[in-house]
Amino acid sequence: MSAVKPKNVLVLGAGGGLGQAMIARFLTDPEVDKVIAVSRNGQPEDLSAHWISQSRLVWIESQYDEQSMLEVVDKLTPFAGTISRVCICHGILHDDHLWPEKRFEDIDASAMLEIFQANTIIPALWLKLLHKTLAGKIPCIVAVFSARVGSTSDNRLGGWYSYRASKAALNSLLKSFSVEYARRLKNVKLIAFHPGTVKTDLSRPFQASVPEQNLFTPAFVADQLINIMASAEVDGQLSYLDWDGKTIQF
Ligand SMILES: NC(=O)c1ccc[n+]([C@@H]2O[C@H](COP(=O)([O-])OP(=O)(O)OC[C@H]3O[C@@H](n4cnc5c(N)ncnc54)[C@H](OP(=O)(O)O)[C@@H]3O)[C@@H](O)[C@H]2O)c1
Repeated sequence: MSAVKPKNVLVLGAGGGLGQAMIARFLTDPEVDKVIAVSRNGQPEDLSAHWISQSRLVWIESQYDEQSMLEVVDKLTPFAGTISRVCICHGILHDDHLWPEKRFEDIDASAMLEIFQANTIIPALWLKLLHKTLAGKIPCIVAVFSARVGSTSDNRLGGWYSYRASKAALNSLLKSFSVEYARRLKNVKLIAFHPGTVKTDLSRPFQASVPEQNLFTPAFVADQLINIMASAEVDGQLSYLDWDGKTIQF
């Protein structure tokens, strides 16, 4: 089964740099009917003029506890079987009270739990709760934002214990979902996606050490992912791909 052009699309964790870029890109695609976005916050005010037809954007708020995620799924009932693209964009690397660990003494249980909740558990809950919404006849490509640092075989530098482990665990969960989805949701393809280093709040404290040519704009990465999703085959496998469509070893 090969991918079809997008119809309705769903962006989860829509308020961040990459979520916003995916929404902007989908809204400029005349093949897309509705763009459904889910975020902890309201629709940003700058979603304005140059984004064609605001009526195509459906904005839903959720605090991502399982009950409020169930309420989102309930609101998606009219779209069941019509969603051809899903982007799961949740991720934390740092915030005002947590910072990636440089050495094992920096590990803090509550910070680790917070990171796993956002990076690992919430994406898994979406894949659990959305199965009836996504099941159907049309191919549906689901890109979950992972990271290359979640690759165990690529880990030469160490550090960033919680973020690395949260993305490795995410990849492992996605592998298990792909096995079960191949039996139960044959129209769904899962991609663990590494966007590269992108100019968003998540990477801001670390951007100075990245050569300019390796620091991508969210719009560039959104274009790359749109193309990767368009050429993806619904093959019952999990693909772990970077922004250039190249396979990453787990
Ligand atoms: N930027 C990079 O260089 C880079 C590199 C590798 C991988 N990634 C991955 O790409 C994805 C998107 O990152 P970004 O660069 O767009 O970062 P960002 O601008 O900081 O956005 C973070 C996203 O995560 C969600 N989020 C934040 N805290 C959360 C929490 N406590 N619970 C649930 N959701 C939460 C937000 O959703 P709301 O809309 O609900 O606020 C937001 O969409 C992440 O998975 C990140 O790990 C980014």
